[in-house]
Amino acid sequence: MPKVIVAPSILAADFSNLAGEVRKVEDAGADWIHCDIMDGHFVDNISFGPTIVSFVRKQTKLPLDVHLMIEHADHYVPRFVDAGANSITVHVEPEAKHDVGKTLRQIRDAGCRVGLTLNPATSFELLEPFLDKIDMLLVMTVHPGFGGQSFRAEQMEKVKRAAEWNKTRDRKSASRTDSSGGEIDIEVDGGINPETARVSIQNGANVLVAGTSIFRTDDYAKAIRDLRGQ
Ligand code: DX5
Ligand code: ZN
Repeated sequence: MPKVIVAPSILAADFSNLAGEVRKVEDAGADWIHCDIMDGHFVDNISFGPTIVSFVRKQTKLPLDVHLMIEHADHYVPRFVDAGANSITVHVEPEAKHDVGKTLRQIRDAGCRVGLTLNPATSFELLEPFLDKIDMLLVMTVHPGFGGQSFRAEQMEKVKRAAEWNKTRDRKSASRTDSSGGEIDIEVDGGINPETARVSIQNGANVLVAGTSIFRTDDYAKAIRDLRGQ
């Protein structure tokens, strides 16, 4: 069974001690740090920008997984690259107001891992044309904008479809001699706790984003172990 990657979302951290929170979660066994960027247009909330991401970069060696819930992501991608992002995920919805294919190429050309995501109400078909151009598919399991919401189990249909796609991808790459054609990571984000993590993993997810269920507990190491199902 592949390793489960746990990516704590600092949206739920104590910002008055952000450096300490990032170090604490790294010591507790986190794999990546998830940074939720909200612009007050694409989603109904405002979080933080590249300055905070570059500050987090200085606190940790862990990969920074940047999730852009913003309009015109193409305009801001270079700033998050400069801030030290390792992966950048953008939204596929027309309301995000960018040329998705171009932005994905822009992220790859900048040397970052490429992620694509969709809101709960958006159909899987919309991102199908891009599946062979990404390293990671993020399945939103809440409507984006706020931490602390309840997991939407019906989104597991998308996780399953991505896992199915990975299987056909495996078969294709097995018949090739080059190294291209690897599987994409399947990340879930929103309402992830030990129970919904188990459901997500069962359906094929391998990356868990969690804010509340880590940062709002007293023992981050235990919270991360519980998410992994250990
Ligand atoms: C929602 C964000 C999530 C959020 C997860 O808009 O994309 O990453 O921080 O938070 P919890 O784990 O509290 O649902
Ligand atoms: Zn997120």
